[in-house]
Amino acid sequence: MRLLFLGDVVGRLGRHAVCEQLPALRERLAADFVIVNGENAAGGFGVTEQIFQNLHDAGADAVTTGNHIWDQRETLVCIARHDRLLRPLNYPAGTPGAGTGLFRAANGAEVLVMSVLGRIFMDPLDDPFQAVEREIAACPLRQGADAIFIDFHAEATSEKQALGAAFDGRVSAVIGTHTHVPTADARIMPGGTAFMTDAGMCGDYDSVIGMEKGEPVHRFLTRIPSGRFTPAVGPATICGVLIETDDATGLAVSIEPLQEGAPLGGGRTRLEP
Ligand SMILES: [Fe+2]
Ligand SMILES: [Fe+2]
Repeated sequence: MRLLFLGDVVGRLGRHAVCEQLPALRERLAADFVIVNGENAAGGFGVTEQIFQNLHDAGADAVTTGNHIWDQRETLVCIARHDRLLRPLNYPAGTPGAGTGLFRAANGAEVLVMSVLGRIFMDPLDDPFQAVEREIAACPLRQGADAIFIDFHAEATSEKQALGAAFDGRVSAVIGTHTHVPTADARIMPGGTAFMTDAGMCGDYDSVIGMEKGEPVHRFLTRIPSGRFTPAVGPATICGVLIETDDATGLAVSIEPLQEGAPLGGGRTRLEP
């Protein structure tokens, strides 16, 4: 089966690009199932019920999130109404919503999707490794699900690679998010799990991880906030990854990074004379 994943959607421009282009992208890539990380879709901070609905209508079968999941207060309530909107799995017991969902894809296959947060250079949470282990024990690849996709939302490349290695051969894909920059390491690991340290964001790359550059630069220079972070409003690039899995084993047979729309931040690597 063919799984399409798009990284963190940042702000209005990122959102509009995804909502406008996803239907055709889904068709062109013949994706059976689409997952989009929506944690920065609402002005850079969180996701609203309406935005979730718009992403779903555009073709996102599941929306994963991350550390910004609760930035919009309404999410605490509306998440109970939408099992396709996943909060990170490893929040404390009793947190609203679910971090895992089993969904039927267009080809009839059952896809287990997990949204998981890292702990290195991030707020302390439950152990992501144990959390994933529990979910896989409850719904193993082949017996419980035809494909298992993990969006590992983490800061440290080491933690992302370690989680990939820990579950290599037992899940279809471990794809990193949160750092908003696509890494050049998409590959199938020895056990058959597709891996990429970060899928990149869907937003304007002429920015500091999707935000207008002024305020982040000011804060690095002075350590004093002078305003709010606002999403950059230049043309958005859609970044993600297309993974094909073997129907018999559920493991990956290909992984292909994807960049659609505007070239990253203008895309120039050489100035013409
Ligand atoms: Fe993000
Ligand atoms: Fe994040």
